[in-house]
Amino acid sequence: MNDQKGNDRMISATSATPRARSKKPAKPAVAPPATLFLFGANGDLVKRLLVPALYHLRRDELVGDDLHIVGVDHNPNTDEGFAERLASFIRTLPQHDVEQGGQALDETLWQKLAERVTYIQGDFLEDSTYEALEKRLADNGTRNAIFYLATAPRFFGEVTDRLGKSGLLSETSQAYRRVIIEKPFGSDLSSARALNERLLGVMTESQIYRMDHYLGKETVQNILVSRFANSFFEAVWNNHYVDHIQITAAETVGVETRGAFYEQTGALRDMVPNHLFQLLAMVAMEPPAAFVADAVRSEKAKVIGAIRPQTRREALANSVRGQYASGRIGEKHVPAYRSEDRVAPDSNTETYVALKVMIDNWRWAGVPFYLRTGKRLRARDTEIAICFKPAPSSQFRGTKVSKLTPNYLVIQIQPKEGMWLDIQAKRPGPTLEMESVEMGFAYKDFFTMLPSTGYETLIYDCLVGDQTLFQRADNVENGWRAVQPFLDAWAGDPDSVDLYAAGTQGPRTADELLARDGRVWHELP
Ligand code: BG6
Repeated sequence: MNDQKGNDRMISATSATPRARSKKPAKPAVAPPATLFLFGANGDLVKRLLVPALYHLRRDELVGDDLHIVGVDHNPNTDEGFAERLASFIRTLPQHDVEQGGQALDETLWQKLAERVTYIQGDFLEDSTYEALEKRLADNGTRNAIFYLATAPRFFGEVTDRLGKSGLLSETSQAYRRVIIEKPFGSDLSSARALNERLLGVMTESQIYRMDHYLGKETVQNILVSRFANSFFEAVWNNHYVDHIQITAAETVGVETRGAFYEQTGALRDMVPNHLFQLLAMVAMEPPAAFVADAVRSEKAKVIGAIRPQTRREALANSVRGQYASGRIGEKHVPAYRSEDRVAPDSNTETYVALKVMIDNWRWAGVPFYLRTGKRLRARDTEIAICFKPAPSSQFRGTKVSKLTPNYLVIQIQPKEGMWLDIQAKRPGPTLEMESVEMGFAYKDFFTMLPSTGYETLIYDCLVGDQTLFQRADNVENGWRAVQPFLDAWAGDPDSVDLYAAGTQGPRTADELLARDGRVWHELP
């Protein structure tokens, strides 16, 4: 098997002070030759995220001339037609909009990629499609193949069954065969288990790459580096010093064109067992024995597996469902969720969810984790706020200071990428007065970040056989297991959705969830 990186993630250390910024880190090796089959080639994901990511991989010389990209979908098209469709889309991306300060698409670079773009028109359920795949692989002269399922979830099992039956998943020492599965991976615990069983019936776990695009974000990967490469964090990273942790993924966008999907899914399924739990795992897991896929994934499985199960009553008390009403985002008036395209006018699907969960292990016993995510909120902001226990205030008795503000460490995932620590400082003057000030690290001050979609690392890792940033079967099942009590409790109480005006911080009841414990949400920017 042509596996350059094996399962060892490449970690190298250089110092990047603003002055030493020019130091170049070691460049990873170019990925081995492969054919990448994109199922669902005419879908949004391929043109918006995957093809730009492949272009960036080519720009960074992480893939070479021997990467073949084959679109597979049911619509008729030719090789040239498909490549041109991708090109015309990629040229219009904001980063290539010269009038908006972007950089025009490098046509020579694009051509290098496009030369090896081909298309197979085929029904995912027909054997003839898989025969065509087999033939294309032989024509391309590459033995390694990746099958990327950017399709509707109902095809995941159907396609992999047929790939298995046709022999396309049989690996040899000279040829790897890998499958990337997009989310949603199941819609609850039992469907996720059933899908895992089905996949594992035709291939081994080492061939399955379950995608969670949050793991492609630099700032998410940086959580592990910050925690485990800086010894002082570890000393305070536990229930002796941490009061509680808040994880927020706030969006300003609504459901856009995905009304039909969202009606079936809702915010809890769409964001919590996957993206928010990835953030929770990164911040709460124990140090892995080594930065290798199985060690990292085992620690993540353990911590998500330690989320305390809730009874129906607890689940109802510890969750809030919200749905956006009309409102203003900046200057723009936006419609209510119930008026969106392909949404029922009396829909009770949640577009916002807030949860309180506890992790039953030695490190986190007694420390609540508050999670919230929602659409059409005041600001786009994905962050983890670690709130430390307040210092005792007795020594300030007799001064103007009546109450000490707790220290927050805020890990900003996006859009303002970095990390900020609120600390108390004495305001200059003759009397003792304090103010919260910020110590911070902004990515943009230290590193040049070229445009990327977040999928680059993940596609590259799959090409070189590194599963660290992909979900193992138990990771996915543990995520669903932890949200299942909320799904069950809500199913018995379908009407409890609290409306919030678009452009606000979410429903009032979410504030009450924290107020009950004497706490408040970290303000959205
Ligand atoms: C997707 C969800 O997985 O993640 C979307 O289906 C959501 O509803 C998106 O908008 C958020 O991703 P990001 O990278 O914009 O935070």
